[in-house]
This record gives sequence, structure tokens and C-alpha cells, in this order.
Amino acid sequence: MKVLVIGGGGREHAICCQLKKSKKVTKLYCAPGNAGIAEVAECVPISVLSFEKIIEFAKTEHIDLVFVAPDDPLALGLVNELEKAGIRAFGPTKEAAIIEGSKAFSKDFMKRNSIPTASYEVFSDFEKAKQYLEKFNYPVVLKADGLALGKGVLICEDEKSALLGLSQIMLDKVFGMAGSSVVIEEFLEGKEVTVLAFTDGETVKCMPASQDHKKAFDNDKGLNTGGMGAFAPTLTYTEEIANETLDNIILPTISALSRENRTFKGVIYFGLMLTKNGVKVIEYNARFGDPETQVVLPLLKTDFVNVVDACIDGTLSDLSIEWENKTGFCVVVASGGYPSNVVKGYPITIEPMSKDIKIFHSGTRIDNGVLVTNGGRVLCVTTIADNIEQARQIVYGQIDKIKFTDSRYRTDIGIK
Ligand code: AMP
Ligand code: GLY
Repeated sequence: MKVLVIGGGGREHAICCQLKKSKKVTKLYCAPGNAGIAEVAECVPISVLSFEKIIEFAKTEHIDLVFVAPDDPLALGLVNELEKAGIRAFGPTKEAAIIEGSKAFSKDFMKRNSIPTASYEVFSDFEKAKQYLEKFNYPVVLKADGLALGKGVLICEDEKSALLGLSQIMLDKVFGMAGSSVVIEEFLEGKEVTVLAFTDGETVKCMPASQDHKKAFDNDKGLNTGGMGAFAPTLTYTEEIANETLDNIILPTISALSRENRTFKGVIYFGLMLTKNGVKVIEYNARFGDPETQVVLPLLKTDFVNVVDACIDGTLSDLSIEWENKTGFCVVVASGGYPSNVVKGYPITIEPMSKDIKIFHSGTRIDNGVLVTNGGRVLCVTTIADNIEQARQIVYGQIDKIKFTDSRYRTDIGIK
């Protein structure tokens, strides 16, 4: 079968590599892809939001399956449009993807369905939001309502910084129109875990739980990023916690979405905080996470296309999904200014590395035959090892073989 993957980051590189392994895939395309993806798929220069061009390409090339990976096209309804055009697609419709597309929607959804999450209020009026901040217990969390590449969240220690953050989001629109409304919520303390799950709208099958590292710098300092490194499985997510999460969060979410005519098919992402008062949802995403995918998907033993088919066809309950009993681990090499000021176009050199390293490309392109940086997160250095200590040694032992101007990475991935 011919498959087209939509997207062009490290997550899509990992998805393409996994699809490439499938015996069923005869031809793999990726739009727009990147320099690393070009080694496993034919990259097509179509942007992820050019819906008409994607549909036209899928029709002329007789694509059997379109795999929509990033948040924006999902939230804007690419899967709806593909289905309307009679093209088989993997990913939630926009009605279901709203759980990521609007934080205000997802908070209200959790509240009305008694799914544990931080207490909150939503504001579209700056003055009212400001008044609310006056009586808040600090720290407080401010979230731009819409999509902001994982960066629309500010954690503020006191009223002064909260007022500044609020005016940046609502008045200066530093996260664009995503900041027209803002969610102000309680700060949760605990360990963070990501649970990705496949679902056909009824049955849910969880992947090994992973841990992302969202802050830009070591010891969780600096601004939030899309994620600077990850590992899976994480042992903090014990069987007991997994059962509690399944009963109180995962199953209620999937059934409430169906009940509200937003049946979710695809991969659903649960960003969880393990608090002393139980597990709470920090956020939902309507897709695979990045960089979590780079450490989770390589552990999948079952043919990926079989899993994708079962989600689309509603037959997930019949499929047993097998995972490698190993540890996936990755560190992101980012551009110096990420997440604020990203300079693109620096040449990248990579000295040969050992076979147990896989480099997923996040933001790269070929410029006149030279590999250059093309985004905030540039490369994701990944290994699959027997345990986390071994994985850390493998990756950190070789990561300096990657060189470009102002490159930067966290040195503490997997330590906590
Ligand atoms: P989000 O985009 O909602 O996942 O938020 C990004 C990051 O901000 C999360 O991964 C957490 O590290 C942090 N965060 C978000 N909401 C909260 C909260 N209510 N309490 C503590 N940390 C939070
Ligand atoms: N790594 C976080 C995300 O994909 O949203």
C-alpha cells in the first residue's frame, strides 16, 4: 500500500521509520518531511495546512492511507476533508481534536465529565482575568487557549509576574490569536508522565508511559519548549497508578468523547501529573507527542500498519499489541535561542556514530547539498538500550559529534 505521512519533524521521522518496517507499505511519502525523513520516504513539498493540495496529491498518486501527525491540520479538520474526499485517513476529526485545539474546551470537558484536573477559570476579558489574579494563591499557571506549539503556558511565581504574563498573552498576543482567551489554573505539584494510547473510539490500548522534559534548560529551568528529551518506559508510572489512571481518566475520556459525538480515533496523548491527591490531567493532545514518539514507537513490535488499521476500522479489541522490553531514550539538540529566538540555516556536521544511535531529524533541510538547521529543535539523538543508565551513556557519549553554531542540549535527561 501507498502511505502519505503529514508533517516534518522528529515525530514524523519516527513514524515514517516505523511505517517503513511494515511489510504492507510499498511506497512511503511525507509532506513536507525534512532532510532526515528524505532518507526513508519521498518528501513532497506541500505544507501541512494546504488541504486542497494534499487531497489532490493523494488522489493522483492513489494513496491508500494518509497519516496526519501534527496538531494544526488535525484541529483544522484535515481528517474530515480527507474522509469527505473518500481518502482513508488516520487521526481524529476536528470535532475530536478540539480536546487539544482549545484548552478552554478541554478544561470544561473534564469538569462536566468529572475527570480529575487542576481547578481553573477561563477568561476572554483582560480586566476580569486581572481581578481574578489578585485573589489567587501563587504560583499560578496561565495558558493561552489555542495552539501555540507547546509554548503557550506560563508558570508565574507571584502576582507581578502573573500580571506581566497575562498582558503578554492577552494584549501583546505573544502566542498570536491563541491568546484571545486564557485559562488561569491551579499549579499542580508532582511528577509528570505522558501516556500515549491508541484508540478506535471504544477500545483503548496504552503505549509504554514516557517522560518528557519540557523546560529549556537543565534542572527544569527556563521557558517551556515542545520537549528537550524523553525516555520510556518510566518506572514512576507503576501498575497501580496505571490502573487508577485507566479507570479515572483514560476510559472516562474516551467514552465521554463518544457520548458527546466527538468519537476519537487515532492516538490520544494524556499529559498527567501524579499529585499527592491522585493522578490529574495537565493536558490532552490529539496526536503522538514529540519527542515522546521517538522513544516509544521504536519499541513497538507489532506491525504498525495493523495497529493503524484497527484504530480506523474499530477492531482494536481484536488486536494484541506487543512491545519490546527495552528502554527508549532521546536528547534533543536545539538551536541556541530556542524556544524564543531561533536562527536557521547553520550548517550541521555529524561525525560517524555507533550503530545503536538513531538520529531523528526535527528541523533540518538540505541547502545546496549541505545539511543545515531549519527549526528550534534540530536533531533528536535516540537509542534503544537495556536500561536508562546504559541509554544515557550511549547518547551522551556521542552527542558532541553533532556540531552547528550555537547548538545546545540538556545534560540531565533521564536523571530524575
Ligand atoms: P501544557 O501545554 O498544558 O502541557 O503545559 C506545558 C507544561 O507546563 C506541562 O508539561 C507542565 O510541565 C506545565 N504545567 C501545565 N499546567 C500545569 C499545572 N496546572 N501545574 C503545574 N505545571 C503545569
Ligand atoms: N512533548 C509534548 C508534546 O508533544 O506536546
